Amino acid sequence: MFVAGFPTGVFAANCYIVAAARGAECVVIDPGQDAAPAVAEVVREHRLKPVAVALTHGHLDHMWSVLPVCGSYDAVCWVHPADRSMLADPLAGLPREWASALLGAGATFAEPDDVRPLADGMRLELAGLSFTVDHTPGHTSGSVTFRTPSDPGSAWEPHGFSRTVPAEDAPELMFSGDLLFAGSIGRTDLPGGDHKTILRSLADKVLPLDDRIVVLPGHGDQTTIGRERQTNPFLQGLVPGPAPSASASATAGSASDARTGAPGGHAPGPNQSG
Ligand SMILES: [Fe+2]
Repeated sequence: MFVAGFPTGVFAANCYIVAAARGAECVVIDPGQDAAPAVAEVVREHRLKPVAVALTHGHLDHMWSVLPVCGSYDAVCWVHPADRSMLADPLAGLPREWASALLGAGATFAEPDDVRPLADGMRLELAGLSFTVDHTPGHTSGSVTFRTPSDPGSAWEPHGFSRTVPAEDAPELMFSGDLLFAGSIGRTDLPGGDHKTILRSLADKVLPLDDRIVVLPGHGDQTTIGRERQTNPFLQGLVPGPAPSASASATAGSASDARTGAPGGHAPGPNQSG
């Protein structure tokens, strides 16, 4: 298994490239601002072929480069329907003054040619990998997480991250988007956000998971379910809900950051402003 990850753009949203092996097809998760050259470099260096872009949610800092990445590789875009409108109209998910400052004069956005809907519990078979999709609203209405079985027999190679957690014992990798961070959770004060809803998502879709699962979040360093269960202040006191399950299938050819104003934003402590 091959996993590369790197922060993108001014808000340092993490982009991940996942493949069964070097020289194989790959999936690009959350190609953020100016991600296309870095994606191209990883693809070239490791002889990969992007076949899909999977979005954890529709915020600008996570999907900025979906159009050029899908266009360059003729890749399919997967996004939850509740966030789909943000692809062509990213201002809908952000305070207008931030978005205007971010976009500047030249940036334009539109949907890629082939956009397909993510749904809760679906199994997404992409690039020889199997991803379980969990709908985890709260940060946005269409936020999802992706879980894929870890492959202990091959290298886990984060690019540009400090390697803090051995992945050899992890049954799965979880791409958590802006649902769950190391020590924090996503902000809920932007359009579509709701604090009670994100806590419900965490209780229903995160707490039932195996402690050994490695979490690769939308911002910041990797962590594990077990570490967050023990130390993340937002998970304390939550009662686990039903275990996530896979029920449908799809196949193809992912203080709040009031400090930075990041649209993904994450709250470092329980006094989350959003
Ligand atoms: Fe976000």
